[in-house]
Order: sequence, then C-alpha cells, then structure tokens
Amino acid sequence: MKKYSDQEIKSFGLIPERIPKHVAIVMDGNGRWATAKGLPRGAGHRAGVNALRDIIRFTSDIGVESLTIYAFSTENRKRPKEEIGILCGLLIEYFNREIDELHENGVRIKSIGDLSWFPTAVQETVRAAEQKTAANPGLKLNIALNYGGRAELVRAMRQAFAENAEADENAISRHLYTSDSGDVDLLIRTGGDERVSNFLLWQIAYAELYFTDVKWPDFTRDELIKALKAFAGRERRFGGLKTNGAK
Ligand code: IPE
Ligand code: IPE
Ligand code: MG
Repeated sequence: MKKYSDQEIKSFGLIPERIPKHVAIVMDGNGRWATAKGLPRGAGHRAGVNALRDIIRFTSDIGVESLTIYAFSTENRKRPKEEIGILCGLLIEYFNREIDELHENGVRIKSIGDLSWFPTAVQETVRAAEQKTAANPGLKLNIALNYGGRAELVRAMRQAFAENAEADENAISRHLYTSDSGDVDLLIRTGGDERVSNFLLWQIAYAELYFTDVKWPDFTRDELIKALKAFAGRERRFGGLKTNGAK
C-alpha cells in the first residue's frame, strides 16, 4: 500500500507524477555474484531472495501499482537438477518467511507461468500465498515462475480461439497472465546483460528499458531509486510527437 506522501517521494529525489505504474525486473546475476565471492551458485540465489524484500517494500511504499519479477524462465528448466532443487527450496522458504508481512502490507501475490511443472510442495506453497492475498488492495506482485513470453502468447491465443474471439489486440491482451496489470512502463535488468530473455514480450512494447551492471543480490533500494530517476527523465512519445510536458 502506498505509504509515502508526495513530499516524502520528493525527498528521495523522485517525481510523484513520474512513478511508473508497472515495473518489471529481470533479476539476473545471482550466480556470478556468488562465483565472484568464491561461493556456490546457491549462495547467490539465497542472497538474491534476500534482496527482494526491500525492493518489494519500497515499490509498494511509493505507490507502484504492479511489480512483475522474473524468478524462473521456461529456459531455466535446462539448468542442472541440483540448482533447480535449490531454487525450489528457496521459493518455499521465501513464501513461508515473507507471506505474513506481504499480506499485512496489502500485497496481492500472483504467479505467472506454468506452475504445474514444479514439485507439488512448490505449487501448494505458491497457491496458498495467492489465495491468502487474493483480495488485497495494494501492490500487485506478479512472480514469473516457469514463465516464457512466447508460451504466454500461445496460451493467450488458444484461449482467444476457444471463445471464437475477434482476432484483435484485445483478444490477446485480455488473456495474458498480467491482464490486470497492463503494459510495463519500466523494465529493469540487473547483471550486465542487455537482453529480454523471453520476458513479457507483449507487455514491454513501449516500456522504458533500464540496464545495470549491478548483480541482483546487490540491487538495493538506492539502485532502484536510480532506475526510477532514469525513468522520470525519459521522454515517452509512444510513436507520437513531443507534446508540452509529456514524458
Ligand atoms: C538469475 O541469476 C536467477 C535465475 C535465473 C534463476 P542467474 O542464476 O542467471 O545468475 P547468473 O546470470 O548466472 O549470474
Ligand atoms: C533471465 O535470466 C531469467 C531470470 C532472471 C529468471 P537468465 O540468466 O536465465 O537469462 P540468459 O540465459 O542470460 O538470457
Ligand atoms: Mg543469468
């Protein structure tokens, strides 16, 4: 739930009218973070999970409406079984530890992607978190788990066909997992690579892209503020011409 007043938002160097409605994050670089410290990759994933807490808290506090985070892609299924097992364990641990605070803060949790691929324990934990928070009025937190942008579009098309919908943009967009969050305004990718990796292909059509070399476990609130400041300074034209004050 939004906590900060406009005055407080300004005190972070941000512009209240230029807070994005929908932020998406490719949380990349956990493995390299760990390797650089001589630690196993799993330690990087653990540190990455810990970094999430303050980012969710801050986006919620400044009144971002939707936050969509990439936790596991359809392509990540290629990773060694052992690493996937570690990620599944962390996921369960994360929800068990954070669910109460998220719920108290009015966060509504939704997983996007094909959850059925995961072990039953993961599915049950995630579904329980979704159910508990389903009616919450605050930040819409979409967690991408076994998610792929192409798979999402195929699924949306299937659903549209099944209802004999007109073949138009709305037929697709209303069947996306994120239909109630709308288009992405700001896409952040940590970890130094500048690519999309099959994330939210439809929803980022006019997103502002922000890339940083900072690896996900080191992505603090101050790093997020940098991204939000960059966003506030962008001129968004959506294919049109510059208009007075339009950014
Ligand atoms: C992102 O970190 C988390 C997942 C993809 C699950 P990586 O594990 O991709 O870390 P790097 O890119 O190898 O450093
Ligand atoms: C993207 O990171 C997926 C997640 C952060 C969950 P990857 O590490 O899988 O992306 P690539 O392989 O570098 O494109
Ligand atoms: Mg990576």
